[in-house]
Amino acid sequence: MVIQKERREGAIDNNQKILFERGEIEKRIKELGAQISRDYSGKELFVIGILKGAVIFLSDLVRNIEVPLKIDFMAVSSYGASTKSSGIVRTLKDLDQSVEGRDILIVEDIVDTGLTLKFLCDNLWQRHPKSLKIVTLLDKPDRRVVDIKPDYSGFVIPDHFVVGFGLDHNEYYRHLPHICILNE
Ligand code: IMP
Repeated sequence: MVIQKERREGAIDNNQKILFERGEIEKRIKELGAQISRDYSGKELFVIGILKGAVIFLSDLVRNIEVPLKIDFMAVSSYGASTKSSGIVRTLKDLDQSVEGRDILIVEDIVDTGLTLKFLCDNLWQRHPKSLKIVTLLDKPDRRVVDIKPDYSGFVIPDHFVVGFGLDHNEYYRHLPHICILNE
């Protein structure tokens, strides 16, 4: 029964409308990878993926970056089972390695209110990196409540709740190859 439910919710159905197709996303990620490779030419990157939503974006992005890099992950609390931000952010999994003196690139799936990124940036600056930049696949600037702007962004989108390509609703839909608007 559980498997059947997952299968049903993993397919694109009447609840979802495609916003960006797989091919469009892949093309944009290649461009981001090229831009980041140029900007960090001659340097080494420390890439921090924010679990779980950024995993799929990160795995495509790093394969398009041509400078030496290390990868680590952090997990912070976000929406839980609802589509509204609680505003409360806490660390669920910390980095395994030190970031002191390193050029950090935070990889996010989406910047919405900006509360998660604000928390992450404040937290990581306290560890004395050499530099800190943010790349996000999606940016929803209309919903921002804190003053934070990603350095690189795949697509700027209006205020829709989106799923797929790593983004979830109640942990479903992360594996969808496209980015879709979820009708609630
Ligand atoms: P923020 O702290 O409000 O910027 O939210 C960041 C996190 O909320 C993201 O990393 C996502 O996990 C989640 N989130 C925000 N908007 C969406 C959405 O449209 N779909 C899925 N998750 C979202």
